[in-house]
Amino acid sequence: MKKLIFVFLVLISACNTAEKPKEKPIINHPNSHVDVQSAALPDSARIKHLSLNINVDFENQIIKGVAAYTIFNNHAHEIHFDIKDLSIKKVYIDNPDKKGKLKQVPFEINEKNEYGDDLVIPINPFTNTVHIVYVTSPKSRALQWLSPEQTYDKKSPFLYTQGQAILTRSWIPIQDSPGIRITYDASVHVPRNMLALMSAENPRIKDPFGDYTFKETNAIPPYLIALAVGDIKYEKIGKRTGVYAESGLLIKSAKEFSEMGNMLTIAEDLCGPYEWGVYEVLVLPPSFPFGGMENPRLTFSTPTIIAGDKSLTNLIAHEMAHSWSGNLVTNATWDDFWLNEGVTVYIEQRIMEGLYGKDYMDMIAQIGFEDLESSLNTLPPEDTRLKLNLTGRNPDDGMTDIAYEKGAAFLRVVENKVGRDKFDSFLKKYFQDYKFKSLTTEDFLDYMNTQLLAPEGKTVDIEAWVYSPGLPKNYSPPVSSKFIVVEETIGKWLNGQPIPSKTTDKWSTFEWVHFLRFLPKELSLAQLTELDTKFHFTQSTNSEIQGEWYIIAVHNDYRDADPFVESFLIHIGRRKFLEPIYGEMIKTPEGKEWALRIYKQAKPNYHFVSVNTLDAMLGVRKSSIKL
Ligand code: BES
Ligand code: ZN
Repeated sequence: MKKLIFVFLVLISACNTAEKPKEKPIINHPNSHVDVQSAALPDSARIKHLSLNINVDFENQIIKGVAAYTIFNNHAHEIHFDIKDLSIKKVYIDNPDKKGKLKQVPFEINEKNEYGDDLVIPINPFTNTVHIVYVTSPKSRALQWLSPEQTYDKKSPFLYTQGQAILTRSWIPIQDSPGIRITYDASVHVPRNMLALMSAENPRIKDPFGDYTFKETNAIPPYLIALAVGDIKYEKIGKRTGVYAESGLLIKSAKEFSEMGNMLTIAEDLCGPYEWGVYEVLVLPPSFPFGGMENPRLTFSTPTIIAGDKSLTNLIAHEMAHSWSGNLVTNATWDDFWLNEGVTVYIEQRIMEGLYGKDYMDMIAQIGFEDLESSLNTLPPEDTRLKLNLTGRNPDDGMTDIAYEKGAAFLRVVENKVGRDKFDSFLKKYFQDYKFKSLTTEDFLDYMNTQLLAPEGKTVDIEAWVYSPGLPKNYSPPVSSKFIVVEETIGKWLNGQPIPSKTTDKWSTFEWVHFLRFLPKELSLAQLTELDTKFHFTQSTNSEIQGEWYIIAVHNDYRDADPFVESFLIHIGRRKFLEPIYGEMIKTPEGKEWALRIYKQAKPNYHFVSVNTLDAMLGVRKSSIKL
């Protein structure tokens, strides 16, 4: 305690003697807004640049090191950081009395809630840098440590991080709000024979000593800081595109993603220059809880999109689109999540239209609308607004098809009102005017009104689209002409006619997904067997088809599929597939027993994000605590 008081006294005297800053302080920065999910007070003191120096310790499953920040300081006396399950060892600030020397300061940790704590560091009005020495916990929510058996090649362990939405604070002490942007550099030490990659300029080959340095010179929100470490190799695809994967998956991945260069050109035509140098993808082991994560310069992806026929690569178009909507221009708070995802789905579909034509895009749009309808039927009405209110809740609760599909539908309606040319010019200007900024829904709506709607003399029912539940009454959903054929085929089959191969021969994955969704809910064993014998759904290696078929199989007690369902649930950790299959299982008491048995075996392979959802769903543990 004595030591603490002494340090405080040194600090106070330092404040009195130091020079006044030359620049006039900014009182309110332009994106001033409240982020209820972060302890930071950005108007008072906020981070500008992070220098991370860490050691990745696979044996103890911890990361140890120093996060050194330069800060914007508005004459503040303290700075607040978000932390979750971090052990803070020491904190230093710069010492104005002894230039270049650091001074250790005391700190306080105020427990906040289930999602994180508030690390309070005393500073003086002239403090420029803050150094935090820390260690992560093996239960850090952002980190997944995989054993060799959990990887594709089964030779080396693997580590990856997942920052979005508020998990970065569980591996770096940080101001974890999407309204705050920083540049970063990092020195990362990993075991020999492993490659380290970040959302930054990346190495191509392993360093013999396991020492890597990184630089991200674009200002990004903290949820986009990412790290992966493993026995990973690189394959170039085009001038600006490439892929990282484990050896066994590398060539397959490069083939699957061969259109990435074209996608990038189409995206730039629509959105303006690509600001991140290269666009590369890291294919992760199958436990990755998402389809993709748009970490700048290096998208993290699930291996479940490697279908062998490029049929699931709209996911790459989606993550690439985030290079503009999300990474260049970011939602200021998680209540504005649709600004990231809705705009991205809209651009994803435009990229796919540019690549494969309107019919293809219409299929994606209709599949998306089907997802939206099922979310509208299951979510509480207040969660079906575009603008959310996640106060006291897990921001993950806002990660629903509403943000994605209602958001994209809203933009398509605006596009139809003003015409594509006008809409496209608006979109490009939006990314130009807001680049490297974070904005709220209201900022966006104001901008859209002044730049696009008002000059054209048009109005859109903002109240209905953005602030009200459900969909506006006069909305007409997207219709795919290809799906009409699919529906007719099912109709004929139900009337006793066989399904002709020449109808289905050239069907895309989306037609098959629609086919499976459009079948009657209740099917007889004879019908299931007939379909399975003809189309081999049970043994499909296309994850989207597996996902749909296994729901049908579970619902109709189609026992032939059981071992395949089990193996899918054990090997794959992507929440989008797990949730509906487990969800179908637990509808009967026997099914629930089955689900729990599989879950017990599979759980060590799932990331925290999936575990959190499934624990709540299967009644293993209560869902996120309500505050
Ligand atoms: N940024 C999201 C993933 C995400 C959202 C992670 C919220 C954590 C919190 C990513 O871009 C995404 O939307 N992925 C989708 C892809 C799909 C819509 C093509 C996924 O993972 O399924
Ligand atoms: Zn997305």
